[in-house]
Amino acid sequence: MAGRVTWLRSISGLKVLAINVNDSVTKGKFYNPCGCQEPLIHGIKWATDVMIAGKVAAVAGCGHVGKRCAQALRGFGACIIITGIDPINAPQAAMEAYQEGNILVTTTGCTDIILGQHFEQMKDDAIVCNTGHFDVEIDVKWLDENNGLKNGLCNILLTEGQLANLGCTMGNPSFVMSTSLPNQVLAQIELWSHPDKHPVGVHFLPKKWNEAVSEAHLHKLNVKLTKLTDKQAPYRGLSRDGPFKADHYCH
Ligand code: NAI
Repeated sequence: MAGRVTWLRSISGLKVLAINVNDSVTKGKFYNPCGCQEPLIHGIKWATDVMIAGKVAAVAGCGHVGKRCAQALRGFGACIIITGIDPINAPQAAMEAYQEGNILVTTTGCTDIILGQHFEQMKDDAIVCNTGHFDVEIDVKWLDENNGLKNGLCNILLTEGQLANLGCTMGNPSFVMSTSLPNQVLAQIELWSHPDKHPVGVHFLPKKWNEAVSEAHLHKLNVKLTKLTDKQAPYRGLSRDGPFKADHYCH
C-alpha cells in the first residue's frame, strides 16, 4: 500500500512483535458504534418481544458503543438514562438508572457494573443485557447464587450477561465488520512480510492505513471526498493525500 508512515509508538514488555488493531480509528469510529446499535435492538426484541417505546432504558457507559446504543433505543421511543465516569464523555453517574430503567444495557468495557445490590433495586421485569466487555460487566454469578430476588420481583437477563448483540441475533452487519477486519489483515501481512522492520513491542496501524480502509468503503455509501487545494493543504499542515489527522490525534 502506498504512503506507509512510521509506526505510532512502541510499548516495551512483550517478547514478540504485535500490532494493536483493536484501537484502530476505523474500529472506534465505525465498528464499535455502528456494529452494536442495530443488533442490540434486534437482540432485545428477538429475545423478549417487548415494545421498547415508552420504556426507560438505562445505558451504562457513554463511549462509542454506549452513545449509539442509547440513540438506537431512543429511536424506538425509549426514554434514556446514561451513566458514566468520564468527565469528558459523561457528566453524570446516575444511581437511579438501576431503579428507573426497564431496560439496562452495559457498554463500559469495565467490570462490576451491575451487581447484586443493583439487581435488588430493579423494577419488576427489567431486561438486563451487555454489549460491552464479554461477561464481566454483569454479576451473573450473584444472580445464579441468589436464584431469584428477595423482593419477589423478576428480571430478564439476556445471553447470560455476554454480548447480547451477538448472542441474541445474527451478529453485527457485515458492512460494519468490513470497516474493521481489514485492519487485521493489514497487520498480519505486515507482521509476516516485515518481521525485522519494527522493534519488539506493541505497535499501532498508521493513520494512513486506517484512512485507506475507510476510503475503500465510501463508494458503497455514495460518498465522494472533497480534495484539499494546493493552498489549503499546507495551511493545515497536511499532504493532499493524507493522513488527514496528526498521529497524536486520537478519535
Ligand atoms: P469507550 O472507551 O469509548 O467507552 C466506554 C465508556 O464507558 C467510557 O466513556 C468510560 O468512561 C465508561 N465507563 C468505564 N467504566 C465505567 C463505569 N464503571 N461506569 C460507567 N461508565 C464507565 O469504549 P467503546 O468503544 O464504547 O467500547 C466499550 C466496550 O464495548 C468495550 O469493552 C468494547 O470491547 C466493547 N465492544 C463491543 C462490541 C460488540 O459487538 N458487543 C463491539 C465493539 C466494542
